[in-house]
Amino acid sequence: METTASAPLTVPLVPGLPLIGNTLAFFRDPLSTLQTLQRQQNRMVHLRIGGRHQYLVFSPEDSKHILQENHRNYGRSPAFQVLKIFLGNGLLTSEGDFWRRQRRLAQPAFHRQKLAALAQTMITETANWIDELKQSNRTQPVNVSQAFMDVTMRIVCKTLFGSDVAAQLSGLSSALDTLNYMANERLVSPLRLPLHWPTPGNLRFRRASTQVDSFIYGLINQRRKNGNADQGDDLLGMLISIEDEEMGDWPGSGRMSDQQLRDECVTLFAAGHETTAVSMAWTLHLLTQHPDVVAQLRAESQSVLGDAKIPSADAFRALPYALQVVQESLRLYPPAWIMSRLALGDDPIGSYTIPAGATALVCPYLLHRDPTNWPDPERFDPDRFAPGGIKEQLHPYAYLPFGGGPRLCIGNQFALMEMQILLAMMVRNFDFQPVPSQRISPKPLITLRPNKPIQVVLA
Ligand code: HEM
Repeated sequence: METTASAPLTVPLVPGLPLIGNTLAFFRDPLSTLQTLQRQQNRMVHLRIGGRHQYLVFSPEDSKHILQENHRNYGRSPAFQVLKIFLGNGLLTSEGDFWRRQRRLAQPAFHRQKLAALAQTMITETANWIDELKQSNRTQPVNVSQAFMDVTMRIVCKTLFGSDVAAQLSGLSSALDTLNYMANERLVSPLRLPLHWPTPGNLRFRRASTQVDSFIYGLINQRRKNGNADQGDDLLGMLISIEDEEMGDWPGSGRMSDQQLRDECVTLFAAGHETTAVSMAWTLHLLTQHPDVVAQLRAESQSVLGDAKIPSADAFRALPYALQVVQESLRLYPPAWIMSRLALGDDPIGSYTIPAGATALVCPYLLHRDPTNWPDPERFDPDRFAPGGIKEQLHPYAYLPFGGGPRLCIGNQFALMEMQILLAMMVRNFDFQPVPSQRISPKPLITLRPNKPIQVVLA
């Protein structure tokens, strides 16, 4: 049969096994599998994973097409259904007009002036946490993966919910870890037993869920008792006191039900601390191998922040090198390493088509390590993000740690500010020494975690 120039082409199908397709290879070693495919230089490939047809795009242009230009053709993929089991119908998992309304309501809490006001809280929480770290034995390795989970949880609770979690920290932290672990298991496992079956895993899940819920409902009830006039201007207060005039005929007359408040709070609680914590642990891992970068960070921190134990929030407006270090760390280890969308209708891209019903995959991990855009991509080099550096010459979607389009991370500026504060305050107090026997590699779960907790000597 003759093929005309305009006839659609078949997207290259990645060879796999009968029935299960590429599932085994993908779950055994997703990063190498995807990098091997990237090296074959196709515009996109067709994988069969977990019984679904998945179309992985490689270029910044096609990533932008899916996330931004043609976003209306895409919904949340089935992977988000799994997240719903503990996040409910919050900002990350909801869709359509309902999502648009919730996003509009939450957005003001993340505006620049609001964030500037949160900086002082972040600084104070960080200073207290550093004091605690200083009391531990300075010659022994510290599990920084856990330490950052603790501090980022404190920061998100204090800044967004006005609450101190110190007393409940370890319980909440392990409950969230259980929920995260279970969601991962369900994401990768071909056999998903119904959640109401009393298996040991399901019982652990229920206990963890109840613990997180009772914490969040406790916060909500406390606020409701205060009445509308006394809500404060943190996110929880804003969400509680909202009377949404435009959407006055929304179920519940525009006010959010307790269940909806719970879903939004758990989403922000989970999305707002784990990603930042994982990324900070990776950053310290990189810094143990780059004392020159630490020296430059320390010089900047010293000259901008001076010697005050609790620096003023204004000083944090100008830590350009700390920002570059954070950006480069997010390039090498983007916590949201892959994003998936469900194609609602056929989507022609060049001579190919992503068919309706398939999943489209956009992969920041691959985009960030693509040698055609990033020279010597495996090398840690914060100067890529310096003024005039390579980043400025690239397509904006060559670097996507916070996603893109309308579903761009709502907390991106919050996270960048928090990470700069943590970094600048840590280098003033510690030297970062590696634990020589430690072999760390990335383990791509829902977020890109290290294969084991990262240990660093904070000398
Ligand atoms: C280094 C830290 C962070 C990274 C790498 C990160 C990454 C991302 C990415 C890639 C998305 C888009 C997912 C998609 O399109 O499928 C996202 C969404 C989201 N993030 Fe973040 N995030 C971080 C920190 C935060 C923080 C601090 C908060 C809140 C305080 C937050 C709250 C959210 C929420 C609510 C969404 C869903 C937004 C929507 O769909 O409207 N994130 N994040």
